Parts: sequence; C-alpha cells; structure tokens
Amino acid sequence: MKEPYQKPSVRKLAQGSHNKYGSGNYYGRKVRTEIDGQTIAGLVERFGSPLFVYSERQIKEKLKELKTALTVRYPKVELAWSYKTNYLQAICALMHQGGSLAEVVSQMEYDKALGLGLKGKEIIFNGPYKPMDALETAFAQGAIVNLDHQDELSDCEQVATQLGRKLKVGLRLNLDAGIYPQWSRFGFNLESGQAWEAAKRIKAKGLLEVNGLHCHIGTYIMEPEAYGTATRKLLEFAAKLEAELGYKLDYLDLGGGFPSLSRLKGAVLPPEVSLPNLESYAETITSTMYRYLKPQSLPTLYLETGRALIDEAGYLITTLHASKRLLDGRKAYIADAGINLLYSAFWYRYNIEIEKEVTGVNEPSVIYGPLCMNIDVVDEGVLLPSLSRGTRLVLSPVGAYNQTQSMQFIGYRPNVVLVRENGTVDVIREKETLSDMESRECLPPDLKLH
Ligand SMILES: Cc1ncc(COP(=O)(O)O)c(C=O)c1O
Repeated sequence: MKEPYQKPSVRKLAQGSHNKYGSGNYYGRKVRTEIDGQTIAGLVERFGSPLFVYSERQIKEKLKELKTALTVRYPKVELAWSYKTNYLQAICALMHQGGSLAEVVSQMEYDKALGLGLKGKEIIFNGPYKPMDALETAFAQGAIVNLDHQDELSDCEQVATQLGRKLKVGLRLNLDAGIYPQWSRFGFNLESGQAWEAAKRIKAKGLLEVNGLHCHIGTYIMEPEAYGTATRKLLEFAAKLEAELGYKLDYLDLGGGFPSLSRLKGAVLPPEVSLPNLESYAETITSTMYRYLKPQSLPTLYLETGRALIDEAGYLITTLHASKRLLDGRKAYIADAGINLLYSAFWYRYNIEIEKEVTGVNEPSVIYGPLCMNIDVVDEGVLLPSLSRGTRLVLSPVGAYNQTQSMQFIGYRPNVVLVRENGTVDVIREKETLSDMESRECLPPDLKLH
C-alpha cells in the first residue's frame, strides 16, 4: 500500500546547553477528541469556533475535593467564591449551589451576587475601592466587610454613626509569608505596626469592632508553607488583639491563591509534577490553626479560592485559519482565538491538544491569534506536526480569569457553553453581536451619515 504523503518539516538545531528533561518529543502529541462526551467537532458544529467550554462535572469535583480536604480537618470552614476569577452567572450559581458564599471586590460584583439570590450576610466584601454608598448597603445588609486602608476605616466609622450602631469589621493584613515580591498594596501591614495602629484607633473611637482578619498573600502560590506562616502571624496578631484590646476573632479569612494546573511560563517541570495538592494546603493551614487556638474558641475559616477551583474546568476550542513560514524559518499558525480572549496567555502556557490523530514529525510552532496586533501570541513555540487549515486545537486550562478579563477587541467574543452532567450542553454566554457592542453608544444626530 502506498504511504500517505507527509509534508516535510524543517527543525533548526539550536546550540546551547542540553536540557536534562529531554529535547522534546518528535512524534508524541496530545489528542483530545471530546470534552465530557461531547466531540470537539460536534461542539463547533453547534456553537461555532472559537468556543469556551466548561465542564459541570469538573467544577463539582474540584469543589468537592477542596471542601473535603478542609472539612475533614477543621469543623468551621466556609468557601467564598471569588467572583473576579469567573463571574459568569452559571459558574457562580454552580459554586453557590455547592455551598459557597460570594467574595466580591466591587459594587458591580456585589450586585451580581444579590442578583443571583444571595443575602448580604452571604457576601464577603473585599477590595481597595468601596465607595460610601457601597459600604452603607453592605453594612445595612449584614455583609462581611474587610477593611483595606485607613480612609476606608474612617468611612466605616461614618457609616456606623449614620446607622447608630457599632459595626463589626475585618482587617485585611499584608505580611511577609516568604512570598516575594511581597504584596503590600492591599490591607494594613503587619510587621511595620500599621495594622496594630489601625486596631488601636478603632478601639479608641469605639464605633467599630474588629471581629475578623483577612489576608491574601498572592496568586498561584506554590508553597503551602507560606499559608502556614500567614496563619501563624495572623493568629499571633489575633491573640494580641484579644489580650490588649478585648477583640475576639469570629473568623480568619486566608483569601485565595492556591495554584491550578496552569503551567507558568519558564517553568521546567509540568504542573502535575511540581505543584502540591490541595490537601497539603489544607493540612498546613489547619494544623497551624490547632497549634495556636483553643478547641473551645475556633474561629470560622474562610477561603476565597478562585483559580484552583475553576481553571481546569475551562477549555477553549480554536480553529487554525492559516499557516505560514516566518522569516527565521519557524512554522506559524493563525488561530481564530487571540489574547483578547486569553488574558492568562501572558503568564501561562496552555496544554495544547489536537482534535484528532495527525501523522508527521513535530516542529516548534508559533500560534498567533486573529488580531492585527503584534502582541497577539497564544503560544511562542509548541511542538506540533504539520496541521492543515481547519484543524481544531483545544487549549486548557483557561477557566480562571479569562472570561472576566476578556476584552471586546477587533472581533466578537464567542459563545461559552457548559457541558452538563446529564450529557446536554447549555449556552451560558451568547456570542456577541454588533448591536451588543454598540448598545451603549450614542451617535449625535448631526454625525449621522444618512
Ligand atoms: C482578595 C482576594 N481573594 C481571593 C482571590 C482569588 O485568588 P485565586 O484565584 O488566586 O485563588 C483574589 C485574587 O486576586 C483576591 O484578590
């Protein structure tokens, strides 16, 4: 039988030090034909390309994994879904149905949580910008408010005066947990004494009462021990608050930051190998809590996990529109999804899977998006065999931060679907249209052309 023709490919031999993890696989490649039983071809046929696809099964499994890791270790745990990670209504609703509260950082996110049916007391309000009317609503509705700075502290005292009652507040702290560069722009600094000064001022004025401590040490934190350090420092501060100011802690909120299986640019080992599992984080946090707390006075532990809960449940299907050779000999593809949809492409490299088996030798290939912008690079050098026009790729994980930070730019943002556990597929955000984009524009009558 005649062998099928295979397009030749050229691979430049680069000089330099040997990579001890291997020089790349010439023939191996990743193939994904389906997502939870839905074929890639079938999904594109029904909903178009590019297409964001979420798996209900994976969302529920991850939520259960984290909840179990925490609740088997500590009796009073609440998860609060970090809205900014992904605030599609369907995604938030799945998190809330799974028992999560909402963690919001703006009036808009607060309104979204109320719109989904949450009560004020089921919302944690964080962030550096909480206008007066947002604070008034939040306190009137019983939300948990974590203070970010001194001016906000004064604003809250004003609200307390207006409402005629003492208000309970949490203090957001930033501290050295061994993660560098250290985030110091949110909350009151612990080591410099700023947090202690804030607490003393609250006590002196008597309009507020500190009943919680919050800390979010950063995102994609690969060291469980950093949470151990943060927990210890927060609890030492809590002990001082109680001993010297008489404030008793109702809750300890450790923010978010657990990593997902995204691959950081520059990382040598794959995330499956280099990242600790969720249990390690849960163990470090809770064992530190037991070391510093009395069993009869355990505060509620809040976690505002975002990325680790949703990233892997999100996929992006993109279709190769064309290919070309670059001047330096590299193969390049133009895909129909660009960085306006993939904000996370600046920091992470996606797992790139082909929708079907393809023969041929791999060569380093650049994947560009469709934007007429030089920065529109989805991947700078993935090993791929020669792929024909129309081939579909599946990029993952893309579930965290891409939806909320995607930008309407040059083209329409695509459909987003949710593959349900019962085998059906629901559109959870429709592809944009020109009228969606222009619906808030106003063209002055004298500028109309006809
Ligand atoms: C206050 C706060 N909580 C939670 C999160 C969620 O973080 P992650 O997605 O890393 O879990 C963030 C993200 O920046 C945050 O700022």
